[in-house]
Formats: sequence, C-alpha cells, structure tokens
Amino acid sequence: MLLALSTWPEIEGYLERSKTVVVPIGSNEQHGPTGLLGTDWLCPEIIAHHAHGEGDLLIAPTFNVGMAQHHLGFPGSISLRPSTMIAAMRDWTVSLAAHGFEKIYFLNGHGGNVATIEAAFSEIYSEASWRREARGYALKLKNWWDLPGVMALCNRLFPEGHGSHATPSEIAITQFAYPDAIKSANYAPRIAPTGPIREAADFRARYADGRMGSDPGQATPEKGGQIVRLAGEALIGDVRAFAAEAIHGAD
Ligand code: NI
Repeated sequence: MLLALSTWPEIEGYLERSKTVVVPIGSNEQHGPTGLLGTDWLCPEIIAHHAHGEGDLLIAPTFNVGMAQHHLGFPGSISLRPSTMIAAMRDWTVSLAAHGFEKIYFLNGHGGNVATIEAAFSEIYSEASWRREARGYALKLKNWWDLPGVMALCNRLFPEGHGSHATPSEIAITQFAYPDAIKSANYAPRIAPTGPIREAADFRARYADGRMGSDPGQATPEKGGQIVRLAGEALIGDVRAFAAEAIHGAD
C-alpha cells in the first residue's frame, strides 16, 4: 500500500494487521551531467514502490531532501542542515507512532544521510528515555545497496567504474523507472576522480562534472531493472524480519 494513495480508514485497517511502515529517504542533489537530481530519493522510492504490492508493505511518502551541503555548488541541489533533518525525522516518526506504528524502516538512498539518520535515531530514542515510556518503537536504517545480494549484483554488472557518486547502478535504476528522462553526455575522463568530501566549493573544484569515481555511461534500463527486482525481493524479506522482531527484549 502507498500511504499517499490510501484513506485514513484504510490505514486504520492496515494497523490491525501490521505496525510496520517503510519510509524511503534520500536527497535531492546533482548526480553528474546525466544523473537526475532526484536520483538518491528516486532509487529507494522506486524499489519500495516496486515491492509493496507483493509484500503487503505500507510505504510512506518519500523524505526527499537530505544532507547535500557538499553538492550546493551545482544548480538544483537542495540541502537540509543536520539539525533540521533530525528535527523533521523526529516529527515524521512521532506522527506515525501516534497512530500506533511501532516499527519504522527507513530505506535510504544517500550515503551522506547515514550519520544524520543515526543521530536522529539517538535523538528520538532519547525522548522516550527521558519520559521513561514503557513502550517505545523500533527504528531501522537500511541503505538500498546493502540489501542482501544487491551490492554483489552491482559489482557483477559494473566491475570497474562503479565509483561512489553518480554510480552506474543508481543511474540505471532511474533509467528503468523513467526511460523518458534518460540523458547522455561525453564523459571526460571516462572514470571520474576520487577523493574526500568537504564543503561545496571544494567539492566543485575537485569533481568538475559532479561524479566521484564513476562511469555512469555503463548504465542501462535493463541493468536497472535487474537491480530493482532483486532489491525489491530483498526489501520484502528484510522488512518482514524487522516486523517480526520483539520491540523489547522481554516481549
Ligand atoms: Ni546518489
């Protein structure tokens, strides 16, 4: 079920059979000369939307702006500060928990979000601790590429030039879902340089076209479809296992 296309009575009915909800989370930021600005939120959304029908999963709206300050040297990138993102994630979580959701699974599409998502979990859990709540809720972070088998498939499809930003894997996923938005460019060099991530001016000076270590020219919609199907299946299994976990050790 997609929460955005459901009514409140349908969500009330869903809560009678499950207390688990999946929130795709990502970032709106440059992805090189051919990658869509939405790539990092589109990928988890595409995978979650692909999986929801088969797995009776409830998918929340996508949290689609994250930690992208280092990409602000490129037009179209939008970023939250870590403190803003933590506050927004807290409000989303508390809203869902107020209706009875106990397991909130964040399917992430942006490596730069990881530290802030983990800090948000600490912030949210600490609120419950201060109030000494008898029952809390469980939060889980999973990057889509860390779902079982997915990185191995990406490495088989793209043995060289995978890189870490504007990767052929993520661009292939968006090509599979949005074939009308496929772009092309002459990459020079074919495989982009690698290095550290600091602030926006430094990032633009190091990575002229926005890519890091990648050759996205290898992406195809067919390869994207393979990744989406495998990741979708793995997501269903991972969410089921999370839903079955006890919230408290004593349960
Ligand atoms: Ni990305």
